[in-house]
Amino acid sequence: MLRAQAMTESGQVQNRALRVAILGATGLVGRTMLQVLEERDFPISELRLFASSRSAGTELEFRGQRIAVQEVNEEGFRGLELALFSAGAEASRKWAPIAASAGALVIDNSSAWRMDPEVPLCIPEVNLEAARKAPKRIIANPNCATIQMLVALAPLHREAKIRQIVVATYQAASGAGQKLVKRLEEELRHFVEKGQVALSNAPERPLACNLLMEWKRDVQSHHQEEELKLINETRKILGDPSIIVSPTTVRVPVFNGHAEAIHVEFERPITAQRAREILEAAEGVQVVDEFAKGIYPTPIDADGQDLVLVGRIREALGKPNALSLWVVADNLRKGAATNAIQIAEALFSIMG
Ligand SMILES: NC(=O)c1ccc[n+]([C@@H]2O[C@H](COP(=O)([O-])OP(=O)(O)OC[C@H]3O[C@@H](n4cnc5c(N)ncnc54)[C@H](OP(=O)(O)O)[C@@H]3O)[C@@H](O)[C@H]2O)c1
Repeated sequence: MLRAQAMTESGQVQNRALRVAILGATGLVGRTMLQVLEERDFPISELRLFASSRSAGTELEFRGQRIAVQEVNEEGFRGLELALFSAGAEASRKWAPIAASAGALVIDNSSAWRMDPEVPLCIPEVNLEAARKAPKRIIANPNCATIQMLVALAPLHREAKIRQIVVATYQAASGAGQKLVKRLEEELRHFVEKGQVALSNAPERPLACNLLMEWKRDVQSHHQEEELKLINETRKILGDPSIIVSPTTVRVPVFNGHAEAIHVEFERPITAQRAREILEAAEGVQVVDEFAKGIYPTPIDADGQDLVLVGRIREALGKPNALSLWVVADNLRKGAATNAIQIAEALFSIMG
């Protein structure tokens, strides 16, 4: 079994399993966390599962045992070392300081803490060192669209320095949680059975056979909140507020796996061949790009795995400092659960 190496008060390294909680355990990300912790043989001596009162009493399986989900409460965080949060921003704002002051290190998947200057925003392949200084004992996982974009772009940034990114996203229903996944299933069933996409009495525009832009709107900047996340989080993670990011975020009728069409301009020239060499050696990336054979990554290829798949690597014709790429990843895994667990593994020095 894997062991965590934790520092004792006297500075000695100790090998042991951790007391862990998941807040939002019944959600899509929470359930994926359970799966990823199990697959990676994460060292756990006690696991507490929390959600809202709606699902208190629900039992979830972990390593062959049924664990009852509890309604989140203050007492519940006592004695924990690690708390993995995926219950939305409001719950994080309330419960992360409580869990942290009870002694747990919180790794949060929501947007609540990402732009707090005292909270590191971390992608292990890109800026792991940032996570080592967390004065609030809270570490933020970036937005899923930011994670996959920067796993692919950070190695190129180190080589040629990014000036500008233009990105269009193709984001799956699972990125908005289980409610939208269920709605897409219903809409598709309705379409097959009745030949109509829109569900009767549904106030929303259908996602099936459609493309939507339904994130919270910032009317002042004319950007959706999801687009602002891509802009601000990229600057914070790469540590360069001068990088221009121009995103258009789109929800597509795909169940799982986000894709991104990225055009990136650099300070120094970089060829497609050099970018391919860098990406082939980059941590967390798999190049899937044989254009002549029609080979490129799709959301179905990314589903269920942790690598960020990169294809269609090409030079922008007539522009020596620019490349275009197609980047695909599993938003529930690398975009959320796996990224959070990789941070925990690194900080607790978990050895395979
Ligand atoms: N889905 C993704 O690809 C993705 C990627 C990156 C980050 N995230 C972030 O991860 C979080 C969860 O996303 P998700 O897709 O897993 O959503 P989801 O499927 O809708 O699940 C939400 C989870 O949060 C719990 N919850 C909601 N309100 C709560 C409250 N007030 N107190 C305690 N628990 C509460 C729910 O519990 P009940 O069962 O009791 O309702 C459920 O377990 C969100 O912040 C999201 O922005 C998601």
